[in-house]
Amino acid sequence: MSGVQGDLINLHDMEGAARERLPPMIFGYYASGSHDEITLRENRAAYERIALRPRVLANVSERDLSTTLLGASLPAPILIAPMAFQRLAHPDGELATARAAARAGWGMILSTLSTTPVEEVSAATNAPLWFQLYVFKDREMTRALVERAERAGCSALVLTVDTPVLGRRERDVRNHFHLPADVSIAHTMPGGMQKLPEVDDDSGLAAHAHSMLDAAVTWRDIDWLRSFTTLPVLLKGILRADDARLAVENGVAGIIVSNHGGRQLDTAVASIRALPEIAQAVAGEVEILVDGGIRRGTDIVKALALGARAVLLGRPVLWGLALNGEEGVTLVMEMLRDELDLAMALCGCRSIGELGADLIASGG
Ligand code: FNR
Ligand code: LAC
Repeated sequence: MSGVQGDLINLHDMEGAARERLPPMIFGYYASGSHDEITLRENRAAYERIALRPRVLANVSERDLSTTLLGASLPAPILIAPMAFQRLAHPDGELATARAAARAGWGMILSTLSTTPVEEVSAATNAPLWFQLYVFKDREMTRALVERAERAGCSALVLTVDTPVLGRRERDVRNHFHLPADVSIAHTMPGGMQKLPEVDDDSGLAAHAHSMLDAAVTWRDIDWLRSFTTLPVLLKGILRADDARLAVENGVAGIIVSNHGGRQLDTAVASIRALPEIAQAVAGEVEILVDGGIRRGTDIVKALALGARAVLLGRPVLWGLALNGEEGVTLVMEMLRDELDLAMALCGCRSIGELGADLIASGG
């Protein structure tokens, strides 16, 4: 990576380097949370407060990081989170991410707001590809998008439920966030709004979201989705045990415990803090994933010990992409995978199945 790779040894370094590389409007969109960014910081701080109780003398000479998720095998319990507008980071955008995912065998979730068509992304990876859905006010267009993703080979649908309206990201308001002329949304948007225009006193994304997203979505819409797709449906953005139970009762295949990386409701609980009550309520009936603030291998150990089957990695993927496209994403993935392997060894765990609640110190 043009001589700089030696200085980049962890995911924090990748963020620092990407900050120097990206225009402030784009870095600001990627990095920011909503309002005071309290949840954004809490997502990290909550991991930092959890202490581990390592086991010793457990013969960890060989470790196996592989697992299964919705019946598919994965080399590590990590997927790439859905993130909009990846061509803002690198000209290859979602294609580079998909190629890196394919190389590592990692699952990837493609955003509704992808800047590369789902068919091209699907052709670039043979690892699991899931499609993240935002429900438009135009339900026919929403349905057409789901059918397109299914035809393209996506194997699950991730319905994001924490975004009936968009959180207010003040950095985007100040920067008049918009899409530059050479980047547009690849999937058909209501009213043909493939661009985010520059608006004087707001984020272009906020204006876009306000006009398109359906804030009237309810639990009944899960049945509506299932009336035209056979794909398993996961809900992304659950933070409470009662909502997790409703999700299970409504027949979802999985739950993603998430606060959208601190970009929606500010002061919402850190996702790792919400995980235990949700794991308890779900009691193994469906698979649980968690995202928000995963930056270290030990974070993944903690998430799995507290009941997650796998985690999603968000922003660091964008930092890798910004620094060096597919190679940069691969570097990020290798860093995190190696840290997970190290953390497991030092915890006395040989396999993912051995990551249990006993590893977590009480009060942590
Ligand atoms: C997101 N996220 C997101 N989620 C979603 O369901 N659909 C989307 O289109 C997007 N877009 C998006 C863009 C950017 C720039 C970011 C940073 C995030 C949220 C994402 O899937 C995930 O929940 C968080 O990013 C996870 O937190 P970390 O790992 O970034 O801390
Ligand atoms: C975001 C939306 C697009 O977080 O999900 O920017």
